[in-house]
Amino acid sequence: MSDMTDKVAFVTGAASGIGRASAIALAGAGASVMIMDLDEKGLLETAGLIERKGGSVAVSVGNVARRADVDGAVKAAVERFGGLHVAHNNAGIVGAGAAFVGYPEEEFRRVQDVNLMGVFNCMQAQLPHMLHGGGGAIVNTASVVGRTALPEICAYVTSKHAVIGLTKAVAIEYASRGIRVNSISPGYVITNMTETSFTQETRDAFIAMHPIGRGSSPEEVANLALWLLSDKASFLVGADVPIDGGYTVT
Ligand SMILES: NC(=O)c1ccc[n+]([C@@H]2O[C@H](COP(=O)([O-])OP(=O)(O)OC[C@H]3O[C@@H](n4cnc5c(N)ncnc54)[C@H](O)[C@@H]3O)[C@@H](O)[C@H]2O)c1
Repeated sequence: MSDMTDKVAFVTGAASGIGRASAIALAGAGASVMIMDLDEKGLLETAGLIERKGGSVAVSVGNVARRADVDGAVKAAVERFGGLHVAHNNAGIVGAGAAFVGYPEEEFRRVQDVNLMGVFNCMQAQLPHMLHGGGGAIVNTASVVGRTALPEICAYVTSKHAVIGLTKAVAIEYASRGIRVNSISPGYVITNMTETSFTQETRDAFIAMHPIGRGSSPEEVANLALWLLSDKASFLVGADVPIDGGYTVT
């Protein structure tokens, strides 16, 4: 089992789905966890789930696209728990679905602001504290469409390719200073995002592209994030790890 005893963790998008499962997994492994999301109600539910299992958690309501919100949340984590060691930068949105010509520029920028600049803001705020503490590990959530593409979600596809690129760029700068940065690329995960962004028909078609023949649970993805953030993944740097039931193999 991955041991996170005495570690302080930071998870974004933790009000639901993958982020919630990741926060619960990190707390279950012994970490004190700061969870951040726009959705206060969902965050408090996640905190309740962690506390009921005896875990240590604090919440920060905020927008990852806003640097001041992220700085405030990271500062609060350090003040509350005494440092910052691991982070799962996971908050994300799909954005509107539309053909490329005519795709609204404002919407395209909004998706980059959350999915890409959110990860940028988080890593800029987190790294100084990890350096100060002598090391750390970061996992950023990308997607199978950060390695491939699907039609009519150009903003999302672009943002996830960029998350993988940014992860690699930052990973090679900080590897020699004891900080490992990696990304994960899930296929279809059964969460609010997929339940609300697809029709039954498109959902079935997307799931059929996974050789395993089903979507993933958020917990299956959280297990990978936990492992990557643990010392068990000590030689993994700048990798994008697919967790997609074989989607990207075909
Ligand atoms: N579900 C999938 O099939 C799938 C596949 C690949 C990648 N992903 C990625 O996984 C991540 C988590 O998605 P999920 O499936 O758990 O979806 P979800 O909708 O269940 O969770 C996303 C969370 O992010 C939060 N969020 C959105 N914008 C935010 C912002 N600006 N600031 C702070 N919080 C914000 C939401 O409130 C929500 O709680 C996303 O980055 C998504 O792109 C999901």
